[in-house]
Amino acid sequence: MAIVLDSQRTETPPPLQLTRLPQHIAIIMDGNGRWAKERGRSRIAGHRAGTENIRKVIERVADYGIPHFTLFAFSTENWSRPQNEVRGLMQLLSFYLRREAKKLHENGIKVVHLGDLSSLDPRLQRQVNQAIELTRNNTRMTLALAWNYGGRADIVQAVRRIAAEGIRAEDIDESTVSARLATADIPDPDLIIRTAGEMRISNFLLWQAAYAELSFIPAYWPDFGPNDIDEALITYSQRTRRFGGVPNEERDSETVSADDKNGTRVDTSG
Ligand code: FPP
Repeated sequence: MAIVLDSQRTETPPPLQLTRLPQHIAIIMDGNGRWAKERGRSRIAGHRAGTENIRKVIERVADYGIPHFTLFAFSTENWSRPQNEVRGLMQLLSFYLRREAKKLHENGIKVVHLGDLSSLDPRLQRQVNQAIELTRNNTRMTLALAWNYGGRADIVQAVRRIAAEGIRAEDIDESTVSARLATADIPDPDLIIRTAGEMRISNFLLWQAAYAELSFIPAYWPDFGPNDIDEALITYSQRTRRFGGVPNEERDSETVSADDKNGTRVDTSG
């Protein structure tokens, strides 16, 4: 049942009570092209269907109270697609922002951008900046749109900033780099979902994904729905995250076997 928060905004309680939720979900939206091909339609029709799909997925994630959500929509490599597809994707971003920015704002969602805005059409840059400005004080959830984003490019620009700031080599640690990535204000993703069955990270949040749980869903992005979010969260809540160590319960109860004493069983897995 929806809870009315004020005259504009309603919130639905999470459909599942889960003990452990990620603080940041990121999705690689893949499969628009295959979705379209199977229907004898153009790739752009697939991207259009993918755009239409975004709202209900955002709403589901927000209903769980997950504070950070990132969508990988246009990579630095996507410029190599046919010109009309690139143009169509840019038009879709413009259409999406025109139609959704106000709605996102009313729903308490703060929009941020990850990637290089400067190579986009100035009008599109303005639209992105306007959505960021309109929603900047919202606190319910941050929606990061990765558009013209690449993980390697992100690391390179962070390194350049470190060099430009004249920071000495011995003063550089992981936090120096993290603080200069596009995601400086966002925690690392706990869960990265990729749709359409491919099992690759494709230059997405490379540094930030160090300990992310990965979930590969067979559904094409236009068919990915709120139920897939539920299922990914159930699976996530059942995983044991180790961050390179061992879970506490194993740390305390482990009995040392003869093999271990002889040092013949070495496990360096994360
Ligand atoms: C990958 O599918 C998808 C993309 C490269 C674009 C994703 C964009 C959208 C969902 C729409 C625009 C987004 C916003 C935020 C307005 P693909 O084309 O590589 O699919 P395929 O692997 O099946 O060919």
